[in-house]
Amino acid sequence: MPSNRSDLTASLPGNVPLLDFARQYAEIREDVLSALERVCDGHRFILGEEVAQFEKAAAQACSTPGTHLYGIGCASGTDALWLALASKEIGPGDAVVTTPFSFFATVSSILRVGARPLLADIDPRTYNLSAAATKALLQDPGRYRGPARIAAIMPVHLYGQCADWDAFSRLQQDFNVALLEDAAQAFGARWNGRPAGSLGDMAAFSFYPTKNLSAYGDAGMVTTRHEDLAERARMLRAHGMRQRYYHDEVGWNSRLDTLQAAVLLVKLSYIDRWNQQRRELAQNYGELFQKAGLAEWGTYPEHGIVLPYVEPRGTHVYHQYVVRVRRRDELRAFLTGRHIGSEIYYPVPLHLQAALRELGYVQGDFPESERAAAEVLALPMFPELTRPEQEQVVAAIAEFLS
Ligand SMILES: Cc1ncc(COP(=O)(O)O)c(C=O)c1O
Repeated sequence: MPSNRSDLTASLPGNVPLLDFARQYAEIREDVLSALERVCDGHRFILGEEVAQFEKAAAQACSTPGTHLYGIGCASGTDALWLALASKEIGPGDAVVTTPFSFFATVSSILRVGARPLLADIDPRTYNLSAAATKALLQDPGRYRGPARIAAIMPVHLYGQCADWDAFSRLQQDFNVALLEDAAQAFGARWNGRPAGSLGDMAAFSFYPTKNLSAYGDAGMVTTRHEDLAERARMLRAHGMRQRYYHDEVGWNSRLDTLQAAVLLVKLSYIDRWNQQRRELAQNYGELFQKAGLAEWGTYPEHGIVLPYVEPRGTHVYHQYVVRVRRRDELRAFLTGRHIGSEIYYPVPLHLQAALRELGYVQGDFPESERAAAEVLALPMFPELTRPEQEQVVAAIAEFLS
């Protein structure tokens, strides 16, 4: 979710940054620098050995026992979404159902393959695409205009929590559509014990620097258990070439950089611990808000803070720790005044974005997404965040709400 990094990470004494790259870097600096040195010494900057090693190790981390998963590295999460859609041969004449409450790339990737995004509202507790709203669209083609046939559903595992995969798998069977995961925010998340990346026909990951598994620049990856789709994605990411300088299709240049793969390989060995630390920090926040008498568990905020709803069938990785609160913008300004970082993911739902006006949606079409956009607030969350810093965040919120 690109935004101004310096706003997110301004880490002056007494501040609680939303995210602090420096602390993670201090832990892994030597490993990262020697990994980068090895790439520089080896001079294989494009699709070098580290790319193959990372693809294999990352796919292995996302696979279920006894199942082989393929990983195809690419230039960004946005490209990973495009590769997943294009590999499934989704294009003009097709429609893809997805959520209006996500980062822009979720919808722009559908447009980029020439298909039509069809939006359905979210579940207000998890903020993920509602399976019930998706079913209503699949059952009643009259709800959408135009001749497109629904070829795929693309839920997003928002904030690091998997969408309701039991329900989406049933829809896939009943309506014979492809199921693609936007897993950009969810490396290491699970649904019924199965990792994100292994759930759909294909999945797209982002390793953008703010992600829970992140590179030192843009990077992404597609995963799939289907050999033919993996082969097609590999071909498309390299100008449609299977054999050098013989182009079978018009693909794209979306190779994963070897330097980024080297960084990612180092970080991959830490990701389980980092995700566990995030879960412990989320638990701390819950306890602190409860102690302060501010915790609320309803769907919508009353006088306090609605804590993140954790779906019991899933394993959350808290890529973001997002609460829901009234007077959100005032609270955010108050926190900024106290040098406490926060962010809004996302202030404008996709159906109301200027660039997507031609989709024909209007205010009021997706009330849950619109309400979430007005109430959600992401609080500081990164594995190295300390308990005293969390106490500072909760105390400031308590002061605001008192
Ligand atoms: C849900 C979601 N989808 C797609 C993307 C696009 O990833 P990238 O920024 O790596 O292109 C992001 C991240 O920015 C995201 O959060």
